[in-house]
Formats: sequence, C-alpha cells, structure tokens
Amino acid sequence: MLPGHRVWTCAAVALGLALALKTSAGSDAPRPRPNFLLLMADDLGIGDVGCYGNTTIRTPNIDQLAEDGVKLTHHIAAASVCTPSRAAFLTGRYPIRSGMISYNGYRVVQWAGAAGGLPPGEITFAKILKERGYTTGLIGKWHLGLNCRSPRDHCHHPLSHGFDHFYGMPFSLMGDCLRWELSEKRVGLQHKLGLCFHILAFAAVTLAAGRLTHLLPISWVPAVLVALLAAVVFLISHFLGDLLVHADCFLMRNHAITEQPMRFERTTSLLLEEVSSFLKRNKDGPFLLFVSFLHVHIPLVTTKDFLGRSQHGLYGDNVEEMDWMVGRILGSLEEEGLSGSTLVYFTSDHGGSLESQLGGHQYGGWNGVHKGGKGMGGWEGGIRVPGLLHWPGVLPAGRVIPEPTSLMDIFPTVVRLAGGQVPQDRVIDGHDLWPLLRGTAGHSEHEFLFHYCEHLVHAARWNQREAGGRVWKVHFMTPVFQPEGAGACYGRGVCPCSGDNVTRHDPPLLFDLERDPGERQVLTPDTEPAFHAVVSRLRREVEAHRRELKHDVFQQLGTYLNTWRPWLQPCCGTFPLCWCSPQEDPR
Ligand SMILES: *[C@@H]1O[C@H](CO)[C@@H](O)[C@H](O)[C@H]1NC(C)=O
Ligand SMILES: *[C@@H]1O[C@H](CO)[C@@H](O)[C@H](O)[C@H]1NC(C)=O
Repeated sequence: MLPGHRVWTCAAVALGLALALKTSAGSDAPRPRPNFLLLMADDLGIGDVGCYGNTTIRTPNIDQLAEDGVKLTHHIAAASVCTPSRAAFLTGRYPIRSGMISYNGYRVVQWAGAAGGLPPGEITFAKILKERGYTTGLIGKWHLGLNCRSPRDHCHHPLSHGFDHFYGMPFSLMGDCLRWELSEKRVGLQHKLGLCFHILAFAAVTLAAGRLTHLLPISWVPAVLVALLAAVVFLISHFLGDLLVHADCFLMRNHAITEQPMRFERTTSLLLEEVSSFLKRNKDGPFLLFVSFLHVHIPLVTTKDFLGRSQHGLYGDNVEEMDWMVGRILGSLEEEGLSGSTLVYFTSDHGGSLESQLGGHQYGGWNGVHKGGKGMGGWEGGIRVPGLLHWPGVLPAGRVIPEPTSLMDIFPTVVRLAGGQVPQDRVIDGHDLWPLLRGTAGHSEHEFLFHYCEHLVHAARWNQREAGGRVWKVHFMTPVFQPEGAGACYGRGVCPCSGDNVTRHDPPLLFDLERDPGERQVLTPDTEPAFHAVVSRLRREVEAHRRELKHDVFQQLGTYLNTWRPWLQPCCGTFPLCWCSPQEDPR
C-alpha cells in the first residue's frame, strides 16, 4: 500500500470516528436517524382494513405494510373524536393536559374562525425534530385551531407547532363542505337561526302594531331596526350552506390561503403531488412528513376512477381510494430511494362513525367485532384503530403485537429515534414503542389507560401483566344507544358524554378484553372471582390520575373560544371576501 493512500485511509477513519462520536453523543438511538412518514386516516374503522380482518374491501397497499412490517392489534386512540385525539397524538399527552378537551358537547374545534386550538406552549414531535435538524411537513387535515386574536396571527397554525411546511385544510372536511344532508353544523344552525328569525319577526310586528294603534308610545325606529335584523337573520339562514363552504372548506399553503372554497374534484391529486414534491425536495433527509388524509370522513370525496368500484358503496369506494393513495405515496418514497431509510406508520385518528347513515346506507366506518364507534367515549369501537409500522431491514416483517399500545406512543418513539429527548417539564403519557417493535421487550409499558369522553373518564383499561397477561376494562359510564345495546345514537350526530342519555354504572361494567374484545360478556362477582379486586384497583388508578392533573389548564374548546368570530375568519381577500380561484395558487 502506498504511504499516501495509508494517510488518506487514516484520515477517513479518524473523520468517521469523529462523526460517529459527535452524532451518538447523548443518545442511544439507532444510526443513521430515519426519516418518518406518518399516515393518518380520518374516521377509518379498524374493520375497514383487509389486514385487520376485512375480506371484502380491497386495501392491498395498507395490507402490504402489515405484511412487511409490524401490526399492532391493540392500538388505542386517546379520544374518540378528531381534535382531542390529534392533540394527544402530536404531543404524546392526554388531551385534558393541554386543554384540548371539551365540557359542553362541542367536542372538536367548530370553526376555522374560532379562537381555540393547540396552545403555543405545547410541544409536538415536529417541534423537537425540527430542532434536531429535521425538515418537517404536514400535508392534509389539521383541525387543531388557527388564530388566537387576529385573522393572521396563526398562533395555532401547524407552522407555529414545529412544521416547516403545511399544505392542506386547517379545519376539517365535513358533510357541509358539499352541502350534504349528513351535516355537522348546518342543520343545527339553521334550526337556531329559524327560531331567532321567528322571534325577531314577531317582535317587529308587535312593535309596529303597537306604534300603529298608539298602544306603545314609541317611534317607528325600533320596529324598523328589529325588522332589518330579522331580514339579516333570514338571509344568513338562506345562504348558510354557501357561507359554511366558504368559511371552513379551504386550502392553505403555509400561511396563505390558496383555494377558498375548495374544488374537491382536484383535491386528491393536489395532495398527492404535494407529497411527492416534498419527498423529492427532502430526499437527502432527514425529514418527518405527516400525511393526514381527508379520507374517509364524510362527505367521502371520491374521484371518478373509484366511484362504484367497491362492494361497500360510496364509503367503500372512498376507503379503496385512500388505500390507492397510500400506494402512490409509498411508490414516491420508493422512487426517491427512501424506503430503507424511512419509518412508515399508518393509523386512524379514531374509530368509524356509526351515525353517518342516510336512507339505510352506511357512510361511516366499520369497527369489526368492537362495540360502538366514533364519539362514544369508552367503547372499543371508537378508540381501537389500525397501527402499522414499517421499516424494512430494521423492523421484522409480519410481526403482530397484541400488547396494548397508544397513538400517544408515537411521540416518544419518533423523538427518540431522531436522537431527541422528550420534554422533562411535563407529563408525557406515551411510551417508547421501540423495544416492543424490535422484540427486546415482551410487554407494553402501559399498565393503565384512561378513556375520556369530553372531560369525563368513561372507562379505564388495566394491562395486568402479573396475572398471565389479562387486559381488563371497566366502563363507569356508557352512552345510551337506540335501539338499546346495539347501533348508534341516530339523529344526534355523535353520542353525548353526559346527561340523560348516558348511563352511569355502579358497579361499573367489567370486561376481559382478551377473551371478549367485542365487550359482550359483562363480568360479575359470580362469574369473575377477581371482580372486586379489579374494579377497586381501577377506581384507585383513575382517582390517582385525576389527582395529578393540573387544574389551571386553559380550556381551548369552551363555548367562548369555540364559537365563530367574524374577525378571526380566514379569508383570502379581506373579510367578507372569502373566495379566491385556484389559479392564484402561488406554488
Ligand atoms: C368490510 O368493510 C365494509 C365497509 O365498512 C363493511 O361494510 C363490511 O362489513 C366489512 N366486512 C367485514 C367482513 O368486516
Ligand atoms: C335522549 O335521547 C332521546 C332519543 O334519541 C331524545 O329524544 C332525547 O331528546 C335525548 N335527551 C337528551 C337530554 O338529549
């Protein structure tokens, strides 16, 4: 060997060592650090996916993730509706800790022009990864608020929460975006506005009659003013559908609105293009991309190619289209040569919506053997979701993990793999999944999980490791179904969390989830010798958990912050000019 060559070899080895020492300092995460591609479906039921047992729907791309990766079969969302579940996912904390939980029945952020949202003081995994040198992107749905005080302060915007790049809906897709009969807001609002109009009209007529007959010693002014107000309310009610479409159904790129209202026929292709261009731009990594699908939430926007293709109506078509999107996204990853260096995760924010039905057709998801669905605090159908992790060559192919895990676990897992540290100044409820995924740990670190419906703990789960691995669940409260015991809360959007239509159970309902994942066999002291021990242990744990909660958390979904504020309404023009054409998209 030539001396010159040897010098170069030495230099290279020394440089390599120096780099290795530098990058491994303070962390035992595997090297090199992976990229992250996190995929989250909206309202997808665990029973809607082939690899979770559906034999008639076609989800080959999602199934492939399970075949080549790890499948979590006991993966639990922190809430059964979007906003709190997503807040928990991004922060690794029960949403009650961040004030992202409601007390009043308005369980998610209600308007793009509301003032509540993920508080700026919360730390998302994106924020930590950005600090660790990652490029971070969010494409798709946000639904965690936008502004605090002025229409452009964007205090709750993804870019204020650690994302370098955002393209998508700051709010959420909803039935009202296509003026569906299955409406989240319009129907209720129209009812209130109608009532308001009648009261005002009656008042105007009374005032006018009083003036005419000289029974009331007043001028015409009050009657005219009240009549004008009634006319305004009438007009708002008449055009409510259009107003909602403009107010909530728009797309943004970073801080700018690009399309208001959205033209849904091109949304899917826009989102896919955005994903592929993000991957291209960032192929030298490291990056974290969170693709938060608008699928499969109503109104089930589906392109022509997929309409009528599934055996399950429009809902099935929409699920199959989303699976195709997953395939396209994984294809882009492959094309950029990133498959081997990227940890891919797939999940749903919570279970399928049983209430989404019209005229005997189901437009919401299927939760398999699990009882209940979206919005029903404790029932498994609302919170048990798909959980797939894929990193070829690093994670084993085809491993199935039945241990209880949580969507909140993604936070510490991602942070650790990126070489970061979880915040030490606050409680993090998620646990690092890595040992479980790699098989170096046999058990989940979750011993107890609490299942909230708004601010109330409706149910709790105990992963009792010492007694041969039983997983107990108690329900302290359950929503009343119509018809009793089955089905959903028809005609009421989502089931309530409190009030007359919630049953309190004392003693609580106890289930053994391993033997009875469908929660059909209520255990009693006669059928289950451990009944009293299990119930009292879970009661104690819930009390302990409630005691350690901070009580000075600012509530983000209270009525005050969660109502529409005209001055916070995001508009691409100046309010009320809330429309702009897609050609203006400054890509
Ligand atoms: C598959 O999913 C569809 C759509 O949600 C559902 O209607 C059907 O019952 C499911 N089939 C099975 C076998 O789980
Ligand atoms: C309870 O449910 C019934 C049946 O759906 C409904 O008529 C009633 O108004 C509900 N009560 C409350 C307090 O929401």
